[in-house]
Amino acid sequence: MDTSVHDSSETRLQFRDFTRADIAAVHEYASDPLVTRWSTWGPNSLEQTAAFVEAAAAEAEDIRTGYSLAAVLNDHVVGSLAVWTKDSSNRNGELGYTFHRAHWGKGYATEAVGELLRLGFDTLKLERIGATCHPDNMGSIRVLEKNGFTFEGRLRSHRAVQGTRRDSMLFSILREDYVHRGNVSGAS
Ligand SMILES: CC(C)(COP(=O)(O)OP(=O)(O)OC[C@H]1O[C@@H](n2cnc3c(N)ncnc32)[C@H](O)[C@@H]1OP(=O)(O)O)[C@@H](O)C(=O)NCCC(=O)NCCS
Repeated sequence: MDTSVHDSSETRLQFRDFTRADIAAVHEYASDPLVTRWSTWGPNSLEQTAAFVEAAAAEAEDIRTGYSLAAVLNDHVVGSLAVWTKDSSNRNGELGYTFHRAHWGKGYATEAVGELLRLGFDTLKLERIGATCHPDNMGSIRVLEKNGFTFEGRLRSHRAVQGTRRDSMLFSILREDYVHRGNVSGAS
């Protein structure tokens, strides 16, 4: 797939499937400790980044239950975004996103989540999409709020990250929330 959702006089953010040629560009941000500071993964070794890109590229060749996409700016991969089916019988999904620090604060993650919601509700036919993040990750929390997610609570001791357990903030958006925000959504 290949879509363009951001268009300005200077730049055009596009979303497309990963290819194995993206490993070096992804590794630029996936190996950055500042970028992965609140994540459950990273900073990546080159082998870990290669495994991620390989898996994402393979997913694109299979029957889709999720989308793991590259965010591309001027032909350069600047971020990763994903929405996936977590529980198909209840049509529950999750999403996540990461951007190179050189491209923070320009609205790209907000737009990326908008694209993930479109794919999640319209294409994957999910009814609920959840997201979790580190309690101190104010940027990520704001991205979710701006896209209409509701805060559901703090999950105590939710993740074990590098030997330390930590809480997560749980957010979700339902199909009806998405439709009420004025989005056209395919029937479930
Ligand atoms: C979190 C992250 C995705 C935000 O991406 P971004 O493209 O900078 O986000 P946007 O530009 O769309 O900003 C959305 C809102 O968040 C706010 N914001 C962004 N970073 C912030 C920060 N560090 N602290 C407080 N607010 C922040 C912006 O001001 C904006 O709000 P506003 O429109 O009300 O001003 C990016 O910092 C990142 O990739 N971080 C590392 C990976 C990560 O944490 N991913 C999420 C894991 S749950």
